Amino acid sequence: MDGLKWWQKAVFYQIYPRSFADGNGDGIGDFPGMLEKLDYLRDLGIDAVWLSPHYPSPFLDCGYDVSDYTGVGPEYGTLEDFTHFLMAAHRRDIKVILDLVLNHTSDLHPWFIESRSSLDNPKRDWYIWRDGKAGGPPNNWASIFGGSGWELDPPTGQYYYHAFLKEQPDLNWRNPAVKQAMWDAVRFWLDMGVDGFRLDAIATIYEHPDLPDHTLPPEKLKTTTANGLTKTEYAQLMRYQTHQPGIHELMQELRALIDAYPGDRVLVGEDDNVAYHGNGNNELHIVFNFPLMLTEQLTPDHIRSNQAVRLADLPPGTWPCNTLGNHDTPRVWTRYGDGKNDAALARLHLALLLTLKGTPFLYNGEEIGMTNLMLTSYDQLRDTAAIRRYALMTGPQGLSHEEALLKVLNTTRDRCRSPLQWDASPNAGFSPAGIAPWLPVNPNYAEGVNVAGQSNDPGSLLNFYRQLLGLRRKLPALIAGEYLALNPESEEYFAFLRDDAASGRTYLVALNFSEAPQTAIFDLETHQASLLYSNQPRQDSLLDLEQLELQPFEILIAELDITKKGITSGAGRIKA
Ligand code: BGC
Repeated sequence: MDGLKWWQKAVFYQIYPRSFADGNGDGIGDFPGMLEKLDYLRDLGIDAVWLSPHYPSPFLDCGYDVSDYTGVGPEYGTLEDFTHFLMAAHRRDIKVILDLVLNHTSDLHPWFIESRSSLDNPKRDWYIWRDGKAGGPPNNWASIFGGSGWELDPPTGQYYYHAFLKEQPDLNWRNPAVKQAMWDAVRFWLDMGVDGFRLDAIATIYEHPDLPDHTLPPEKLKTTTANGLTKTEYAQLMRYQTHQPGIHELMQELRALIDAYPGDRVLVGEDDNVAYHGNGNNELHIVFNFPLMLTEQLTPDHIRSNQAVRLADLPPGTWPCNTLGNHDTPRVWTRYGDGKNDAALARLHLALLLTLKGTPFLYNGEEIGMTNLMLTSYDQLRDTAAIRRYALMTGPQGLSHEEALLKVLNTTRDRCRSPLQWDASPNAGFSPAGIAPWLPVNPNYAEGVNVAGQSNDPGSLLNFYRQLLGLRRKLPALIAGEYLALNPESEEYFAFLRDDAASGRTYLVALNFSEAPQTAIFDLETHQASLLYSNQPRQDSLLDLEQLELQPFEILIAELDITKKGITSGAGRIKA
């Protein structure tokens, strides 16, 4: 445990700045609001926050379209507000990492405005400009958000490439000036004291320089979106647009840059960047385990096979990182609930995240069981990717307004981005009464889904989060221990060991995902364990591992009684 870096021990909490806390009462979250809530975060028991983009942005992709990499969006406050926030977080031992959007800028970034101004502008080559072919775009590449990946710029007659929205032109990372400008921005924040970065979309940083057409049959793309393709088809579609040579070297450069700073600053990557761990010590530090959450039900089978594959895939020396939700995905409560046992399942899901090996990332609002927000009309949509999907559906795809709207309301990323529900007053205490927040507040704030109400209720989800986060800190083997799956045949419960040779402690974790009691028989060298925690009433603190009765939805953590059996080494603790 002592040999671990801070980011291996930490629990991260993602803040979506626009929706976290509105300090100035204008309907949009901001730094003064976040500052006020730092004590809340400290008391919750998290160690670090990841801020989704806080930079100036026209907000076409909810801040992932940056127009100034060294600024603060005026709606969020000033650079001084940011510094106050950072220092106040550090005073509470909370680290802060920022979102770093390297692949593209906003089309309103001064670099792009210059670049598009003429064919011979010195910044022309900062982006990917090409002549069209046969009266159309340079090739058949698609945008990840739907439609062509190319946009014609009529004044200069050339096309520019965008992996995401047309308002997010891709930078040309083969131009050394681009790299230097971006590394300057990185140093700006590191000099200020930020503790690292979550890297946005690095797989798309380079494109194949010869622009070969992808070979996916056009009928596969008749909806003009990538939705609905199989994994193999999607890989075929993106063959020349993602994971091109050069990313490893770029990540190594960035890693060397941040390693030159004291304090073990960290680089966190998205899932399809798992390959960019390098040799385990020279590229990304941690990469989200997205396959864990890519399921509609977190069953023991799914979790076990995910862990088996994931832990085997990580290069030696790297550290796992687990999450169940973020600003792009449905809310954890809604996605993995069954509509009947949601409260019990939400507790199991947190227990899972905090007991698996790896750094856990929580998403703001998950601690009070915030659910997907169901918008009711087109005008309420703020997620441009959803708005563009609607246009494609009602245009080339020929769907009716009602059909397309329903599909879009059921999938928009707005669902998980609604304002945090602080109390039961109007607007959930996010913004003053009478001010319309930028996205509607989920009405269930009035039915107990709010921080103030749950703070005073010992049995609330919020207090469960506090309790479990506190427990994790006290049990070092939950952080440092090796993961060893047990009883792989069990479909109803998920059990595993966290075995920490350094502290000589081995914990058994058993999570019963079923509403029925289960009997678990563990074939271990030791037959006894001492109960450390259960969310269910238990008579005895000494457990019989050859006949362990698990109660419905029980979360159980126990310490194996190894010393009594005289076994002191890590090896040989498990019989089979
Ligand atoms: C972010 C999305 C964003 C996309 C383009 C993803 O990694 O999580 O929210 O739309 O990158 O920047």
